[in-house]
Amino acid sequence: MPQAPPVDHPPDSPPVCDYEGADYQTRFWEQSDRAYEDQVEAIALQRLLRGERGQWLLEIGAGAGRNTPRYHGFARVVLLDYSRSMLREAQTRLGQSSRYIYVAANAYHLPFADGFFDAATMIRVLHHMAEPQRALAEARRVLRGGGLFILEFASKRHLKAILRYWLGRQSWSPFSLEPVEFLPLNFDFHPRAVETWLREAGFRVERRLTVSHFRLAWLKRVVPTRVLVALDALAQLTGDWWQLTPSVFVKARAVPEEPPPSPRPRLHFRCPACGHTPLAEHEDRITCPSCGRIWAIRDGIYDFKTPIHEPRR
Ligand SMILES: C[S@@+](CC[C@H](N)C(=O)[O-])C[C@H]1O[C@@H](n2cnc3c(N)ncnc32)[C@H](O)[C@@H]1O
Repeated sequence: MPQAPPVDHPPDSPPVCDYEGADYQTRFWEQSDRAYEDQVEAIALQRLLRGERGQWLLEIGAGAGRNTPRYHGFARVVLLDYSRSMLREAQTRLGQSSRYIYVAANAYHLPFADGFFDAATMIRVLHHMAEPQRALAEARRVLRGGGLFILEFASKRHLKAILRYWLGRQSWSPFSLEPVEFLPLNFDFHPRAVETWLREAGFRVERRLTVSHFRLAWLKRVVPTRVLVALDALAQLTGDWWQLTPSVFVKARAVPEEPPPSPRPRLHFRCPACGHTPLAEHEDRITCPSCGRIWAIRDGIYDFKTPIHEPRR
């Protein structure tokens, strides 16, 4: 994926893996043989979301909305992605529904008030984060105490990597805690490092599911998908004992816990540049009364990537 410098963010803002205009959903999911991965992720999400209810769920890095229909227990879902084109794909896929709100913004600078969301998810996104701790801290900031966080991350400590390392066919160790950047802005993380970052960000890990035990091209060719999916569904349950898969799902809770808030019929925005809240919302734009930035609301997408009006000097 091409790399773009984030627009209108502090100079120390980490780089972003830019999916603008990418044909990710079609090429990666629909034209490639990934039915197995999609189905086992659906099972993991269903398990981790069982019994979870709330008003507002934030999907960070929602992409084309592949997982969005899986968030049944939440009245409103905010799809946030850095790529406008991915959000447009999501709009087409999900159709007209007041249940969904689309926001183009950077996961490192979420444009929402502190403690607003009851839940957040981040699936197949952390692996693009050069500074995962900052992204996790932002997720924690917008969650209320007791809020649910479901994180999927790409693990470096999986069986294939271990075997390759032992056979001398891979230089990096799957056992060491530092991330491995196998392509520009594509990282695999050590499960223990991710748990440490989650704790430091203010989360308590409740449950882990290991996912995609059988992600091997030859195996997927010879064994029917439904068999691999059934086996993976069983093996996922070992996630709290050991994690040796390329994908790990973690269910975490924002601490300290607080009583659920009263109903919030509207989304509470916060200026991603100066941090002011609340912002003033108009039909076609949203403005920050503090710094003067104005962002467009275009074709149903709140666009916080680039202000259409720069701040007062
Ligand atoms: C691999 S796709 C996953 C999409 C979706 N979560 C799924 O599982 O199908 C990664 C997504 O993360 C988004 N993304 C990457 N870095 C981001 C950032 N800093 N802020 C917001 N979105 C980001 C990309 O635009 C892309 O849509």
